[in-house]
Amino acid sequence: MELCVIGAGYVGLVTAACFAEMGNRVVCLEHDKARLAQLREGQCPIYEPGLQALLQAGLRSAQLSFSDDCSLALARAEVVFIAVGTPSHEDGSADLQQVLAVADSLGRHLQRACLVVNKSTVPVGTAERVAKQIAAGLRSRGARFVVEVASNPEFLKEGSAVDDFLRPDRIIIGSDSAQAMQCLQRLYAPFVRNRERILLMSPRAAEFSKYAANAFLATKISFVNELAGLCSHLGVDIEQVRRGIGSDSRIGSHFIYAGCGYGGSCFPKDVRALVHCAEQQGYQPAILQAVQARNSEQKTLLFQALREHFGGVLRGRHVAVWGLAFKPGTDDLREAPSLVLLDALLAAGAQVQACDPAALAGVAGRYPQALASGQLRLSEDPYSCVEGADALVLVTEWKQFRQPDFIRVRGLMRRPVLFDGRNIYDPSELSTLGYLYHGIGRPRVGHCKVTAA
Ligand SMILES: NC(=O)c1ccc[n+]([C@@H]2O[C@H](COP(=O)([O-])OP(=O)(O)OC[C@H]3O[C@@H](n4cnc5c(N)ncnc54)[C@H](O)[C@@H]3O)[C@@H](O)[C@H]2O)c1
Repeated sequence: MELCVIGAGYVGLVTAACFAEMGNRVVCLEHDKARLAQLREGQCPIYEPGLQALLQAGLRSAQLSFSDDCSLALARAEVVFIAVGTPSHEDGSADLQQVLAVADSLGRHLQRACLVVNKSTVPVGTAERVAKQIAAGLRSRGARFVVEVASNPEFLKEGSAVDDFLRPDRIIIGSDSAQAMQCLQRLYAPFVRNRERILLMSPRAAEFSKYAANAFLATKISFVNELAGLCSHLGVDIEQVRRGIGSDSRIGSHFIYAGCGYGGSCFPKDVRALVHCAEQQGYQPAILQAVQARNSEQKTLLFQALREHFGGVLRGRHVAVWGLAFKPGTDDLREAPSLVLLDALLAAGAQVQACDPAALAGVAGRYPQALASGQLRLSEDPYSCVEGADALVLVTEWKQFRQPDFIRVRGLMRRPVLFDGRNIYDPSELSTLGYLYHGIGRPRVGHCKVTAA
C-alpha cells in the first residue's frame, strides 16, 4: 500500500519503518529540518533498539522516504497516519494543536480520497473533530471526495518499540466504516498471525481504550508504591510482598515493582488528560488523582532519603547517579524521575556525577550551567561515575547496572552507600560486601558512618 506517516517521533518513525519493512511504500512527513536531514542520511534521531537498521534498510530499498513537503508526501497516499505529539496543557488537558494543525493541512493538501488514521493519543471525540476539520478544508476548495477518519491508538513501549510494533499484543481499530476497518485489517495482517489480536470498535471506544490502558498501568505502579511506603513503616520487604501477590494470576507480575515513580512521555500526561476529561464531565476521578499524587511524592523519595542520610546537608557531598532516561532502553527524559532528583541535588549544593547509556546528550542540554561550573559531571562509564562518591543512587535499571562489580565500585567510592531506586539489588549481598543499602519499601541494611563532607 502507499502510506504517509505524519510525524517522525517515537511512534511515527517506528510506524513508518515497520510498515516499509513489510513491503509498503511509506513517505514520512516531518517538519523539523534537523531531524529530517538526519533521517535522510539514515541516522536515527532517537535511541530505539533495532530502529536504525530498519531505517537504513527502508532507505536502501526506497520503500521508505522522508519529506517536509505535505503535497508531495500525500500525493499517492491511500492511508495517512497521524503520529504527532499531544503534550499537556497547563490545566492537564491534552494539547491537540499539532493534531489539528495536521487536520488543517490535510484539508488543504489532499488531492484524493484516502483513509486518515489517528495514532496519537487523543481525547474521546477527536476523530470526529479531525474529520470535520478535514471536510471543512476540502469543502472550501470545492473538493468532492470524502475522507474517512479512523482511530488506531498505538501501544508500543519505548525501549522495545520496534519489537512491539512487529509483534503487537493487540491492534485496536476504531471506525464506523466497514471499508476503513477492512483496509486497516489488511495493512496489519502481516503483523498478526492470530487475527483475534485485531480488535474492532467505535472510534470513541478506541480513543478511550488508550487512556484506560495507560491509566491502569500507572495505577498499578502507584498502588504498589503506596504499599511500599507502608512496608517501610512495618519493617516488611515489598519485594517479598510483590512475589507474594504477583504469583496470583488475577493480579499478575507486571507493573507491580516498587520504585522511584513513573515518568515518560505517556503515563503522566495521559493520566492528567483523563483526570481533566473526568472533571470536565463533572465526574470525580478520585483514584486517578491519588495515582498522580502518589507518583509525585514517589519521585522525591530518593532525595528525601539522601538528605536524611546526610543529616539534612547535601552541600559538598558527591552523589553518583546511575540511569537518567525515564526507563531502560530509551534516551527519552520526558518527566523522568532522575530529573526531579538532579534538580533537588543541584539546588541543595551537591556535586553530582551521572551516568546513562543513551540520555547524556539530553541531560547536558538541560543543565548547561551545572556542567560548565563542574557541579554536574556526566560519564558513560558506571565505574568512573562513582569515583569519590559519598553515595550511589540507582534510578534507571539499565542492564549495564544490573550486575556491577560491587567490590570495584566499593573501592572507587568514598563511602559504600547505595540507594536502590528500583529494588534491583540484593540487600543482604550488599551488606555482606560492606554497603549501607536503602531500597524502596525495604528494611535498611548495613552500616556506614557518615563523616564530614
Ligand atoms: N512515545 C511513546 O512511547 C508513545 C506510545 C504510544 C503512543 N504515543 C502517542 O503518540 C503520539 C506521538 O508521540 P511521540 O512520542 O512519537 O512524539 P514525538 O514528540 O517524539 O514526535 C512527534 C513528531 O511529530 C513531528 N511533527 C509535529 N507536527 C508535525 C507536522 N504538522 N508535520 C510534520 N511533523 C510534525 C515533530 O517534529 C516530532 O518529530 C503522542 O500522542 C503520544 O502520546 C506515544
